[in-house]
Amino acid sequence: MKLFLDTANLEEIRTAAEWGIITGVTTNPSLIAREEGDFQEIVREITTLVPGPVSAEVISLTGEEMVEEAKNLAKMASNVVVKIPMTHEGMKAVSVLAPEGIKTNVTLMFSLNQALMAAQAGASYISPFIGRLDDIGHSGVQLVKEIVEVYNYYGYETEIIAASIRHPLHVMEVAQAGADIATIPFKVLSQMFQHPLTEKGIKMFLDDWQKSGR
Ligand code: G3P
Repeated sequence: MKLFLDTANLEEIRTAAEWGIITGVTTNPSLIAREEGDFQEIVREITTLVPGPVSAEVISLTGEEMVEEAKNLAKMASNVVVKIPMTHEGMKAVSVLAPEGIKTNVTLMFSLNQALMAAQAGASYISPFIGRLDDIGHSGVQLVKEIVEVYNYYGYETEIIAASIRHPLHVMEVAQAGADIATIPFKVLSQMFQHPLTEKGIKMFLDDWQKSGR
């Protein structure tokens, strides 16, 4: 399972890219709104920081407008993926963009039927929102398992990005469920490093080394 960073914060992306463990980035209008600066410039900068896909979301509501917006976003860099909401108009846009070779990430995905329709329309990626499903008493991880099973059964090539990840356990669970990618907030990615035995072990090694007098 690949690890992406779910943020539009350039400092976070630079830091995680240096760790060598993230290959892509996902953003959304809420994440971009938290940052200073021009949307296009932020996205362009992100595309230079990671080698893999960078999802930038459209804000139009009609299929035609989404297609136009998507084409402009896709021109910015070869690793831009256009995030499109899971709506009737969104699927219209995906089915126009797919044959033109513009990669899409269908977002705000909360059910297996939505995942089926997005794959059928030609989505490159889908983003089931794990945490937001958990918030309303449904299992986000269970949805990922169901999508993985059905996509494998029918041979869909659409990749599954587990999104709305809230804690390290989500990451382990979506990995076990067979997600292709988990897109993770910086705070959760940092938490994933932590283990008391690692910290204790480093201290013990250094103490023993010093005691040896070398
Ligand atoms: O990529 C979008 C998704 O990660 C949103 O997460 O925490 O706002 O539900 P959240």
